[in-house]
Amino acid sequence: MTKSALVTGGTSGIGRATARALHEAGFDVTITFRSNEDQAKSLLNEGEVASIVRLDLSDPQSVDAWVQGQEGSALDVDVLVINAGEILRPSNWREMGIREITETFSVHAIAPILLARKAAAFMEKRGGGRIIFTSSTYGLVGAGPVLAYGAAKASLVSTTYALARDLGVSGITVNCVAPGNIDTPMTAGAGDAVLKWVQETTPVGRLGKAEEVAAQTMYFVNSPFITGQIAVVDGGQVLNM
Ligand SMILES: NC(=O)c1ccc[n+]([C@@H]2O[C@H](COP(=O)([O-])OP(=O)(O)OC[C@H]3O[C@@H](n4cnc5c(N)ncnc54)[C@H](OP(=O)(O)O)[C@@H]3O)[C@@H](O)[C@H]2O)c1
Repeated sequence: MTKSALVTGGTSGIGRATARALHEAGFDVTITFRSNEDQAKSLLNEGEVASIVRLDLSDPQSVDAWVQGQEGSALDVDVLVINAGEILRPSNWREMGIREITETFSVHAIAPILLARKAAAFMEKRGGGRIIFTSSTYGLVGAGPVLAYGAAKASLVSTTYALARDLGVSGITVNCVAPGNIDTPMTAGAGDAVLKWVQETTPVGRLGKAEEVAAQTMYFVNSPFITGQIAVVDGGQVLNM
């Protein structure tokens, strides 16, 4: 039987590369999008994804209603990749407002728990599955210019450990990728000074590719005996942070 996967934020960057890798591996892939409906429809028409679902993660109550309602059945999959997100600005700890802080935690900390919990219930009935979170190296070392983002991403490390411990007995592995600076639209918005700093501080001397993060996710998908792991995909930059 064809296996199924859901990738949140599959219209762009890392999520798009991950959806493509899963499609090439034979999965029926559903992606979620927030605003880029044209791109989602185009991927659907090209046959790269099997279905598309609109989902905005910025409000916890709306996410919970989505998860509990009919649309939450999109989480009945073999593989869940929780990827969607962005850095809300201003993001510096001196300037960010309560809206930026609360929405950041909704997208990167609260919504992942709500989505993973529902998917895990479906996977328990299926007899197994894979859950992969997307943290960040900023979630490991922290960074003043993106304080709330880093703090929310840090929570995914603990969420990964907690769920991996509880769900292994059901054949469900729970892992996490922690990308460094990857060449996606999100990074392009950071500005030339940041990109220069990344190149100078990254031992391999370049930005990562979305496909390189997707490859790590596929490694977790294909590894039934690996769970509770945080895979840093950053060209070694965290060594210099
Ligand atoms: N790029 C990096 O250097 C890097 C490093 C570490 C971690 N990450 C993480 O990797 C993930 C993907 O990043 P990316 O670089 O691939 O970004 P991207 O190219 O900008 O794509 C972001 C995706 O997330 C969706 N999204 C954004 N905010 C959302 C929200 N509030 N609710 C629902 N969907 C939302 C977007 O949907 P629409 O386009 O439909 O709006 C889009 O599909 C993010 O969690 C990011 O924090 C990225």
